[in-house]
Amino acid sequence: MKIVLSVGGSLMNPGKPDVDFIKGLSALIVKLAPKYKFSILCGGGQPARDYASAVREFGGNEFAADEAAILMTRANAFLLAAALGERAYPRVFTDFGDAAAAETASKQIVVMGGTIPGFTTDADAALLAEKIGAKKLVNLSNISAIYSADPKKDPKARKFSAMTHSELVELANKYDQRKAGTNFVFDNVACKIIARSAIETHFVSGRDLKQVEAAITGAEHNGTVVKG
Ligand code: UTP
Repeated sequence: MKIVLSVGGSLMNPGKPDVDFIKGLSALIVKLAPKYKFSILCGGGQPARDYASAVREFGGNEFAADEAAILMTRANAFLLAAALGERAYPRVFTDFGDAAAAETASKQIVVMGGTIPGFTTDADAALLAEKIGAKKLVNLSNISAIYSADPKKDPKARKFSAMTHSELVELANKYDQRKAGTNFVFDNVACKIIARSAIETHFVSGRDLKQVEAAITGAEHNGTVVKG
């Protein structure tokens, strides 16, 4: 079974690489690799933000800031591939076509970062799943589940254990209309892509590898499953 893992950059690199997190995650992937065909998309975390803002300080435009951020997502992908050793395809892909060709031709795990400016690694993960025909995506982030509102700000926020793709798209749209800085757990484009291809998507805390394992293996978990 093909599974795409989307690994939040803030887990991998909150300022410097979280070596223990990367080791733990790669050990879980190696343990489960005999049963699942993984492909992995890594986010940029703090270095992506730092590099983007440095480019802006030099007068660079948003395209250039994104280009710098993308390089940091690829640096994180390189680290996860390094931790996976020979299990990983020995190249960080920058293009979906090349990644998909390697995914088909090789038993090794394809690991990549961002692709083009203006995107996010959420959308990239959804597109990678679509391209390779994966029907399941597991999103690892700092957020343990999807809520009806920000649980830190709204005591009435309700956790969704399960929701449909159209409910997710609606919720993501609601967030998108608000001010910057109130980012939804999965971006709008990514939500629409998993919806149009009916990709079952699990949202779990990447800090709790038991939850990640449950989401991968189809066991119950404390996060959110989006399907139907
Ligand atoms: P993300 O914001 O997707 O990564 O990409 P992340 O670090 O996982 O996100 P959080 O903060 O943990 O939720 C980092 C930045 O890289 C650029 C964008 O500037 C984005 O904000 N990027 C990423 C692109 O321009 N294109 C891509 O395809 C991916």
